[in-house]
Amino acid sequence: MTEAESTETLIVGGGIAGCAAALAAVREDAEVTLATKARRPEDASTWWAQGGIAISRDDPAQFKQDIVDASAGTADPEAADVLVENANEAVRDVLVETLSVPFDVADSDGEDFDFGKEAAHEEDRILHVDASTGSYVLERFLSFVDDHPDIQVLDDTAALDLITHEGEVRGAYLESGGEVWPTFAGATVLATGGVGDLYPDSTNPAGSTGDGIAMAALAGADIDDMEFVQFHPTAHVDDSGTLLISEAVRGEGATLRNAYGERFMPAYDDEAELAPRDVVARAVKNEREVSGEVFLDVSDIDFEERFPDLVEQCEQRGIDWESGIPVRPAQHFLCGGVSVDEWGRTSLDRLYAVGECAHTGVHGANRLASTSLLEGLVWGLRAGEDAPGRDPAPMDVPDLDDRDPALPDSFAREKFTRLRRVMGEYVGIERDPDELERALGVLRRLKGEVDAYVRTRTSRSLYELRNASVVALLIARAAAANDESVGTHNLVSDDETTTDDEATVETP
Ligand code: SIN
Repeated sequence: MTEAESTETLIVGGGIAGCAAALAAVREDAEVTLATKARRPEDASTWWAQGGIAISRDDPAQFKQDIVDASAGTADPEAADVLVENANEAVRDVLVETLSVPFDVADSDGEDFDFGKEAAHEEDRILHVDASTGSYVLERFLSFVDDHPDIQVLDDTAALDLITHEGEVRGAYLESGGEVWPTFAGATVLATGGVGDLYPDSTNPAGSTGDGIAMAALAGADIDDMEFVQFHPTAHVDDSGTLLISEAVRGEGATLRNAYGERFMPAYDDEAELAPRDVVARAVKNEREVSGEVFLDVSDIDFEERFPDLVEQCEQRGIDWESGIPVRPAQHFLCGGVSVDEWGRTSLDRLYAVGECAHTGVHGANRLASTSLLEGLVWGLRAGEDAPGRDPAPMDVPDLDDRDPALPDSFAREKFTRLRRVMGEYVGIERDPDELERALGVLRRLKGEVDAYVRTRTSRSLYELRNASVVALLIARAAAANDESVGTHNLVSDDETTTDDEATVETP
């Protein structure tokens, strides 16, 4: 067996939540290992976050109210309190003073931030850097963890499974370059991000396979609210992939028009383009079905001045943005995940989860814009403060390194194609109870086929597929079990569904 390793605090994932946990842990004098399967900063979702990071201005109670309202009243009020009460201090201390993130300012002497507006926010409270906030935050966080003497960063390193003993997590099997070894840890913090790879179109980077949620679920941790998958209303999808067009663009005054040039959002909601994200996503889907296309009309705002990065990306793809940007909904965020308390502790001893893979309860059934970086930051810091102080407890574990590390490329590709098709058609923005049952059947069989391989192989892509199939089942099961349409969980009956012919879903 490749030699076992030990660390005081093992963090799995290198986005804002994992880096924040590492920063807080070393402030507690902990020794940290941060393992991330990312090879470049672009491999973490944080890099792609555009809009920004919301903070409280004059009225924290209104911030909390906006979180609760956007969630259709389902957000956990205590979790919302944790977020709102810790937001400003976390941003000031870590992002502004420690990392010097260059948030846009409103005046030439740099005294006041340029607070942006996004949907369902009652006031302008979004700190941003152009519409590329995540990349500016992550660059600085990665420099911090790379340079810190007490943080060992292992990139291109995946966690395959948690090591458990009597309800307690003792670390994880890590894999890099085909080698697999156990890393024992006093505490393990999952910060593995979202589930975009389960859907045909997503704003997440490739590799968003729900790894932390799957590993925690398989280890017996509590998982909650998995049916609440958020779709962003304004993604542009073409041959180069999915480009998010930030909600901040609508916050500045851009409007949505159908193929007939009609502005349609006022007919759907009094808040029009600034209605909660689930409402706008459903409206865009509907208008595309009725009229054929939906465009984001930026002619009434100073798009070039306010969003130069987005202009550049549009022009690189040949999008004629002056005539309107073609947009459609794409999977964006998972509101559910591994259940945690206000310190990021899961139901298993020594296991924490933070960021998108965690379910803090703060988003309920629909997340308010620009609260995901904030949630990752706040809970990352809290878990990093709480987790250290325990010694790793090595134990005898099976040797995974003698298994075959290889897997035929076509195996994962074919299964992923089937999984995404089922999730996109049956477990997307609209869900029909009968179709959810059908999806469950396909997903169960798919997981069975994948499990048979996992018993003998350790290929990373196989484990990603295993994780995706576990998480897809969790989402489909939770969706089938919830008979109330709320937030992002939108039930329709047979004759209302707008999915393609059922026969297009292949069953084995
Ligand atoms: C966006 O910029 O529209 C995304 C912001 C978010 O998901 O919170």
